Amino acid sequence: MKEQLLQLQAQATQRIAGCESTQELEGVRVNYLGKKGELTAILKQMGKLSAEERPVMGQLANEVRAQLEAALEQRGGALKQAELAARLASEKIDITMPGTQREVGHKHPLSIVQDEIKEIFLGMGFSVATGPEVEWDYYNFEALNLPPGHPARDTHDTFYITERMLLRTQTSPVQIRYMEENAPPIRIIAPGRVYRQDSLDATHSPVFHQIEGLVVDKGVTMANLKHTLDLMCKRLFGEATQTRFRPHHFPFTEPSCEVDVSCFRCGGSGCGLCKGEGWIELLGCGMVHPEVLRRGGIDPEVYSGFAFGMGLDRITMTRFRIDDIRLLFENDLRFLGQF
Ligand code: DAH
Repeated sequence: MKEQLLQLQAQATQRIAGCESTQELEGVRVNYLGKKGELTAILKQMGKLSAEERPVMGQLANEVRAQLEAALEQRGGALKQAELAARLASEKIDITMPGTQREVGHKHPLSIVQDEIKEIFLGMGFSVATGPEVEWDYYNFEALNLPPGHPARDTHDTFYITERMLLRTQTSPVQIRYMEENAPPIRIIAPGRVYRQDSLDATHSPVFHQIEGLVVDKGVTMANLKHTLDLMCKRLFGEATQTRFRPHHFPFTEPSCEVDVSCFRCGGSGCGLCKGEGWIELLGCGMVHPEVLRRGGIDPEVYSGFAFGMGLDRITMTRFRIDDIRLLFENDLRFLGQF
């Protein structure tokens, strides 16, 4: 039996030393020291030994077990450490590596200019109003002094949903809608999308944008109109900007004007942008027609007001030197990424 024990010890020691993983080592442990292992098998034969031999063999068996357990532990420790080191090496991440860049969106050039104009007017105490793009003929035309058959409707041909419902051709209908719901004093701007029957080319689009303005209060005069718009132009295009008010006609204002600004590229001396004129046509405006106030439920004997409307697309194009209006609507990221 002694032989058997010593042989087992030698064999097991060698196998423990040869183990390459903790898993393999566990296999070896079970094989020699487990309940059904080889050491147990040898010990089962103790009964056959004489009374003198038994304690001697028992002691030897214990020594063998203790020595093997120590060897297992030592080898196990070394293997565990090696395995941990290998895992750390394989799972290492380089935290200095650049991450996956997510692209942050930004404003469309039209929104940039629209927000700038909004800011200017908010600073003057205006608030922002909106109205529907699908509009009644009544608000888009009739309440603005453009009854059916009025010749000025010819320049505002649009897309009709029904005989009486259409895509608005201007933001001016917001004036009536706002006056219906709100009593003076009124100080609003109304930015929005408008539509006209127009064939698409570099300077025309059937969809474009306007910003409407409306002020109604007691004692509002043309002087207030001029001052407000002059201030807006200086804020928008620079302090040196000059304005020029030319008489014009709109059915919903009386008197009416068109406003030009001194060319913000050449300062008025004449260049390609202003086509040598020194001036750029910017907007339409005027004193709100008494009939329009009446349609809005406001007494023109008590109140007066001024209104204006300007196209946003052309301002945006000149500002950013965009030479084709279609670029504003195509959502081409190569274009939009430049602003
Ligand atoms: N709605 C006009 C247009 O689209 C622009 C305009 C002119 C608006 C004069 C106004 C105004 O409010 O007073 O051509």
